[in-house]
Amino acid sequence: MRSLRFQFIAFVTAVLVILLLLLNTYPILSSRDAVLEEKRSFLSSQASVLASSLSGLDRLSRESVAEVLRFLDFSGFSRIVVTDADGVVVYDSSGPVGQVSDIADITTALARQETLFRSAFAGAAFSSSMVTLISYQGAVTGAVYLAEYDAERAEIILSFQSRIRTVSVTIGVLALLTACLFVTLILRRLRELVRSMRTVAAGDYSYRHRARGQDEIAELGAEFNLLTERLETTEVQRRRFVSDASHELKTPLASIRLLSDSIVQNEDMDPGTVREFVTDIGNEAQRLQRTTEKLLALSRLDDTGVQIVPEPVDVKQTALDALVFLRPLAKEKQVHIRSELEEGCVVMATQDHMFQIIFNLIENAIKYNVPEGSVLLRLQGLEHTVQLTVEDTGIGIPEEDRPNIFSRFYRVDKARSREAGGSGLGLSIVHDAVTAYGGSIAVGQNKPQGTRFIVTFPRPTSEETGI
Ligand SMILES: Nc1ncnc2c1ncn2[C@@H]1O[C@H](COP(=O)(O)OP(=O)(O)OP(=O)(O)O)[C@@H](O)[C@H]1O
Ligand SMILES: [Mg+2]
Repeated sequence: MRSLRFQFIAFVTAVLVILLLLLNTYPILSSRDAVLEEKRSFLSSQASVLASSLSGLDRLSRESVAEVLRFLDFSGFSRIVVTDADGVVVYDSSGPVGQVSDIADITTALARQETLFRSAFAGAAFSSSMVTLISYQGAVTGAVYLAEYDAERAEIILSFQSRIRTVSVTIGVLALLTACLFVTLILRRLRELVRSMRTVAAGDYSYRHRARGQDEIAELGAEFNLLTERLETTEVQRRRFVSDASHELKTPLASIRLLSDSIVQNEDMDPGTVREFVTDIGNEAQRLQRTTEKLLALSRLDDTGVQIVPEPVDVKQTALDALVFLRPLAKEKQVHIRSELEEGCVVMATQDHMFQIIFNLIENAIKYNVPEGSVLLRLQGLEHTVQLTVEDTGIGIPEEDRPNIFSRFYRVDKARSREAGGSGLGLSIVHDAVTAYGGSIAVGQNKPQGTRFIVTFPRPTSEETGI
C-alpha cells in the first residue's frame, strides 16, 4: 500500500520544485534579456553617432579619428576600432594600425554591408560589441567597431540570483516541514479512527470514537459513531429476538414432550385420557405452527431484498372479508361488532397485508374484551388519507405498556394472552405492514374504557391507482 503520507509529500515536493525552479530562472533570465536589449540600443546609437561623425571626413586616418573622438565622450568602451572600406585598421584604442583587422565581425559586416551586434553574458560580465558601417554619399568608406565589457550590471544580477536562491530554498524547506507536520497530524487522527473501526468490527459495539475538532475528519468520526449506535441497537434487538423466539418455541415443545412422555410411560392409561393428551399435543403443535407462520410473515416484511409490489386495495371489501372470519369468535366471546365503512377507500398495498392488518386488530379487540362488550370498526376517506379506526370496550392497555405493544413477543398480561392463544406477534406484523406502505399506526384509550387503534394510510392519486 502506498501511504497517504508518501503521496502527499511527493505532491508537495513536486509543486515546490516547480515553483522554485520558476522563481530561480524566470526573473534572472528576463532581467538579463532586458540588460542585453539595453546594450544593443546603447551601442547602436553610439556607433551611429561615431559613424556619422566620421563619414564627413574625406580621409580616415589615425589622427583624424582621434580628433573626432576627443570631441565625443567614448570613455566607457573597452575597445574602439575604425577601419577603411577594405578592413584595414586606421584607429585602434588598444592595438596596431595599418593591417587588416583581426576582428572577424568587422570583415563580416563589410562583406555583407550591414551592421552587426553581438553580446553575451559570460564570466560574470556582459560583453557586447557592435560594428556599424561608415558611408559617404551612398558608398561605404569604412567601419566602426565598439566593444563594451560590463561587470557591474552582471554583479548586481548575480547577487540578486544568489539572494533569490537562499530565500527560496529557505521557504521550500519551511513549506516542506509544515506539510510534513500537517500530514502527520491528519494521519494520526485517521489512524485513531481506523483503530476505533477495528475495535467495533471486532464486536465491541459499545465503543465510541472520540472525535476532536470540527472538520471533515471529526464529521467522519461522528458519522461512524452514529453507525455504531445503530449497529448496537440492532444487535441488542437481534439478541432479544433470538432469546424471545427460542423461549416462545421452547414452551409448547416442552408441553408436547411432557404429554407424550406420560402417554408412553403410563401403559394402562385409559383411552379417554390418551385422547385428551393427544388433543393437547395437537393444540400445542398448532400454536407452534401459528408462531412460526407469524415469524415468517415478519421476516418477509423485514426482508428489504424482496420488493413488495403494491396494488390498489379496496379497504371496505377487505374489512368485510375479515369480519366474516371473525364473527364466530365474537359470538363465542359474546362481543358485538359494529362497522361504519365508507365506500371508495382505496389504498396502495397488497390484499394479503391489508387483510392481516384488519384481522389482527379486530381479533385483538375481540380477544381482549369483556362479555357483552363491543367493537366498532370505522373506515373514513379524508382529503389526503384513508383512516381505519378499531375501538373496543375491552380491558384496555395500561399507558406504560402502549409504547411497547408493537415490539415482537410483547404481551401486556402474559398469562392471559397465552391462554388466549396469543404469541405477541400480531401487532408487530400490523405495525411493519402499515409502515411498509407509508402509513402510521397510533394507539390510545377508548372512552370510557377500552382501546382505540387508528391506522392512517396515504390516499393514492389517480395516477398511482390507475383508476
Ligand atoms: N384491543 C386490545 N385491548 C387490550 N389489550 C390489547 C389489545 N390489543 C393488544 N393488546 C395487548 O397487546 C399485546 C400484543 O398484541 P399482539 O396482537 O401483538 O399479540 P397477541 O394478540 O398476544 O398474539 P397474536 O396476535 O400474535 O396471536 C397483547 O398480548 C395484549 O396484551
Ligand atoms: Mg393479536
